Amino acid sequence: MITGGVLLATSPWFSAFSEQQHTRGEKARIGIIGPGSRGQHLMGFLAANPKVEIVAVCDVFQPSIDAALAIAPAATAYTDYRKLLDDKAVDAVVITTPLYLHHRMALDAFDAGKHVFCEKAIAYSLEETHAIYQRYQQSGKVFFVGQQRLFDPRYIHAIEMVHSGEFGVVSGIRAFWHRNNDWRRPVPDTATDEQINWRLYSAYSKGIMTELACHQLQIGTWAMREIPDKVMGHGAITFWKEKREVYDNVSCIYQFDNGVKLNFDSVLSNKFYGLEEQILCNKGTIEPEKSKYYYEEIPPAPAFLQMLNDVENALFGSMPFAGTSWVPETANVNEGYYLLDRKPEGDGTSLMLEAFAEAVITRKQPPLIAEEGYYATQLCLLGHQAMVEERSLVFPDEFKLDYLNHKAPESL
Ligand SMILES: NC(=O)c1ccc[n+]([C@@H]2O[C@H](COP(=O)([O-])OP(=O)(O)OC[C@H]3O[C@@H](n4cnc5c(N)ncnc54)[C@H](O)[C@@H]3O)[C@@H](O)[C@H]2O)c1
Repeated sequence: MITGGVLLATSPWFSAFSEQQHTRGEKARIGIIGPGSRGQHLMGFLAANPKVEIVAVCDVFQPSIDAALAIAPAATAYTDYRKLLDDKAVDAVVITTPLYLHHRMALDAFDAGKHVFCEKAIAYSLEETHAIYQRYQQSGKVFFVGQQRLFDPRYIHAIEMVHSGEFGVVSGIRAFWHRNNDWRRPVPDTATDEQINWRLYSAYSKGIMTELACHQLQIGTWAMREIPDKVMGHGAITFWKEKREVYDNVSCIYQFDNGVKLNFDSVLSNKFYGLEEQILCNKGTIEPEKSKYYYEEIPPAPAFLQMLNDVENALFGSMPFAGTSWVPETANVNEGYYLLDRKPEGDGTSLMLEAFAEAVITRKQPPLIAEEGYYATQLCLLGHQAMVEERSLVFPDEFKLDYLNHKAPESL
């Protein structure tokens, strides 16, 4: 059972809600830049929040403007984001444009005195991401990144259990996100292909790493309370070979100081295992996406099952009658336990947006939240670079933050 206490203890960013009662009746006046697929999804939550007024929307694609106005009919519609930034009715912006546009838009938004929620990944390069973080710091404004797992009760509880030592020490993290589709959206004509399918082209996106990996790498560093020092990897286009420039098959190994590895894998031509972040500890395993945990030691298999195992592994004949001295390490089949005693409500997105609205109203940045987003982006970008350059890369010192970095909550 997850409680407010647990949430607050594990998630310093939940302090965003500490003035919730006093802010009753106040409103965060928000403008949406790029209300496409994700932006409309976020608008659904924002429109349902009585503390939010969606006062403006901006897009260069008329169908996106029409869809946005259907959700927020009173909003002023713009086609140039700088006009939206000039609008004095806007306190804060939500940036949900394609990745390559985040840098210019986020910098301009801070310069215009707006609070910023920017979808992940923060930006297209290490330099751009660092520049946005610095501008945020100079601005004194609120800065959130769309890393909703930080607000997902399954993940909060999972990490709380890891940090409590329940499962011993973390030995490794295996993150994977597999799909079986080409990620291509239908287009009205080929001239709009790059605009609509920006994810597939390297001028606009870094593909799997910036779209998927950043969510999962953040779980690894959250569990470890540490940033990995090094990364190596390999990426390729193995299946979806039609017009596309980003990898459809990647593997990256991130290495922490103590030798523990965070592995990230993704293929876009098999979805059997879906997605998960498996936190492997010496006394147990956690799979937060599945909302489950498993203890390492389960009761020994009945003798009959042990015999079947031996036969299956062709060991029976050669084994001494008194029993095996070597038991094959077949996968653990215990069913495990659920992390929560109820079905999870959503994936944290709605809570994250509520926290953003509260932070805009109180003008107070919750601790660590920008830094979590910052490192998630930098790590996915570094992994991408390691794959492109086909060499092992060390996290560059110039992009490290003076950051409390996942310290135990009691020391915050
Ligand atoms: N947190 C998550 O789980 C999650 C999920 C999906 C997408 N995202 C992120 O959201 C962002 C957007 O993804 P999407 O799938 O919604 O993309 P999308 O292509 O559906 O939407 C982008 C919108 O931006 C608009 N746009 C493009 N150029 C513009 C400009 N100059 N000014 C204003 N608007 C402009 C497009 O017309 C479109 O409506 C990406 O950064 C993506 O990684 C996050």
